[in-house]
Amino acid sequence: MDINKVFVVGAGTMGNGIAQVCAQTGISVVMSDMSQDLLDKALKNITWSVSKFSEKGKISEDVDTVMDRIQTSSDYQAAADADLIIEAVFEKLAIKHEVFKKLDSVAGDKTIMASNTSAIPITEIASAVSRPENFVGLHFFNPVPMMAAVEVIRGISTSDETFQYGADFVRFIGKEPIMVNTDIAGFILNRINMVSNMEAMRLVEQGVATPEDIDKGMRLAFGRKMGPFETGDLVGLEVSLMAYTNVYEEEKDLRFYPPSIMRRKVLAGHLGRKTGKGWYDYNPDGSRKK
Ligand SMILES: NC(=O)c1ccc[n+]([C@@H]2O[C@H](COP(=O)([O-])OP(=O)(O)OC[C@H]3O[C@@H](n4cnc5c(N)ncnc54)[C@H](O)[C@@H]3O)[C@@H](O)[C@H]2O)c1
Repeated sequence: MDINKVFVVGAGTMGNGIAQVCAQTGISVVMSDMSQDLLDKALKNITWSVSKFSEKGKISEDVDTVMDRIQTSSDYQAAADADLIIEAVFEKLAIKHEVFKKLDSVAGDKTIMASNTSAIPITEIASAVSRPENFVGLHFFNPVPMMAAVEVIRGISTSDETFQYGADFVRFIGKEPIMVNTDIAGFILNRINMVSNMEAMRLVEQGVATPEDIDKGMRLAFGRKMGPFETGDLVGLEVSLMAYTNVYEEEKDLRFYPPSIMRRKVLAGHLGRKTGKGWYDYNPDGSRKK
């Protein structure tokens, strides 16, 4: 694949990971955010993560060689000669539109633009740019350097070439594309997971089983690293509730309607690890209470 430069806008959790995997593949990256402080923090995080890869022998190059491929800039002009722009800013449509309008005015005709949105329709984000046929969803999973799947999402205007480019790029950086042929709420993997997680909550609500037993069962029977309640407490119940509600609002399908037990826990402030109480109770040091 012929790709020399990727511009990553939004240097938070996901932007850091995306910049890292691109740099580890040999691609020059420019990372952009709202301030140099945020960018310096991002560089520090990435250096730490690349060092871990190096210590474990998972990369052959030294840390400095990889890090030298990552430049930072708060000026979108640096996106002018990028082959690919990947957006990973806050999950708010208005912010994503503002960012893409600015990028659209500097990007070249052939530049492919991608959003890492978790749930906003790709078609809606692409409406901010003048060449929506060059726009595709690239949904990475957290932590990006570790997770091998990336959903490639086709918006209503995405061209065949751009959709294919998304898949080729994902393979180029050593990951596996999961092709999402229609721009559907929640895409594929989160959509399936949501229904399964909510069914687990309903079983707890009905007194059929405890969170402990469901988590244990999902680990032992289905080989999951963590059960749905353990994961839910880590992510934060309010974060999942927002995601489920968004999908429900779009689909008006009761399969996606968040169970009462979850809505009540969020109202009570039982958000998971961060509040010391969620599906489980936690000690101040973060360990789970017996
Ligand atoms: N965290 C996850 O597990 C996960 C997984 C898949 C997809 N996503 C999606 O990825 C995107 C980013 O999520 P995150 O978890 O990395 O968030 P984050 O809060 O860690 O990072 C977002 C970054 O965007 C920057 N930003 C905000 N507005 C900006 C602007 N106008 N211009 C430039 N930079 C701006 C922020 O300063 C911040 O550094 C969201 O759309 C999210 O839904 C997140």
